[in-house]
Amino acid sequence: MIDILNSIKTDSISKINGIDSLHELDQLKSFLLGKKSPLMDVLKDIPNIPVDERPVVGKQANQLKQDLTNKINEKREELINKERDIFLNQDTTDVTLPTTGLPNGSYHPITIVTRRVCSILNRYGYAIKQGPNIETDFNNFEALNIAENHPARDMHDTFYLKNKSVLRTHTSPVQIRTMLTQEPPIKMIAPGKVYRCDADVSHSPVFHQVEGLYVDKHVSFADLKGTLESFLRELFGNDHDIRFRSSYFPFTEPSVEVDVSYTINGKTTWLEIMGAGMVQRNVFRQVSYNPDEYTGFAFGLGIERIAMILYEIDNIRLFYENDKRFLTQF
Ligand code: FA5
Repeated sequence: MIDILNSIKTDSISKINGIDSLHELDQLKSFLLGKKSPLMDVLKDIPNIPVDERPVVGKQANQLKQDLTNKINEKREELINKERDIFLNQDTTDVTLPTTGLPNGSYHPITIVTRRVCSILNRYGYAIKQGPNIETDFNNFEALNIAENHPARDMHDTFYLKNKSVLRTHTSPVQIRTMLTQEPPIKMIAPGKVYRCDADVSHSPVFHQVEGLYVDKHVSFADLKGTLESFLRELFGNDHDIRFRSSYFPFTEPSVEVDVSYTINGKTTWLEIMGAGMVQRNVFRQVSYNPDEYTGFAFGLGIERIAMILYEIDNIRLFYENDKRFLTQF
């Protein structure tokens, strides 16, 4: 038995030494140590040999099993290192060479202006709220005092969807969502995309607005004017004139529109940037606020128009064409 074990040992070690790949090593391992291996045959045969020889043979067989396992593991380590060295020697990339330089990304002008607007208003205490782009007819129109068949619905040239839902035509529905879930006092702004069937040099079918709403006891038109004037001075500095024009929105009474002086190609004109006004009493009734107890003002401004004024851009479409020569200037 001992002779057989010695011969298994010599034969196995020479086989392990001759192996050249991990795949072959796996196959050899099951041949040398698997259930049908010569070594296992010896172990299985131990009960058939004289009792006094069994401990010696058993010990030697187990020792051989351990030695062969160690030897195979050493070989595995050696082959892994060898394969890695071959791979590294084939890869001729010089990782120490300087790069050709990747251009830095930059923020889109619409993102820059939205952030600037929100950061100023945030500082005035307005919390940021969000609403969905697909809105209910109730939030987009009805609760804002724009009843079905009201001519104001034409003002918005709406994209109507199925089940009386619409692509929101303004960010004003976020006012309704907020008031339906919160009690006054409320001070919120809502930046986001809005949609209208509308397109020329200063109108786009998809554009961005920031809504604002302040509701509390004793909020007055003077608060509206003071807040917006201060905000617009911070945003535009002293290089632009600002004017308030009286206007009409079903959801505010009285209502105004704000124009900012806009110089383009050497000519100065006015560009309308926002609508605003005191929240209409009917809107408060729709959200179960008592209009005798609370007053408030709201405003909705157009981000593209503000960006056109700040950066002296003459065509709104430049924001959406994704021309890198245009986008990398901001
Ligand atoms: C509204 O959308 C009202 N919801 C604003 C409002 C809110 C009034 C709260 C009162 C109280 P208007 O349709 O005027 O109003 O749009 C507001 C601003 O969005 C405009 O002043 C303009 O700056 C911008 N705007 C409107 N239509 C377009 C368009 N097609 N493309 C780009 N900007 C637009």
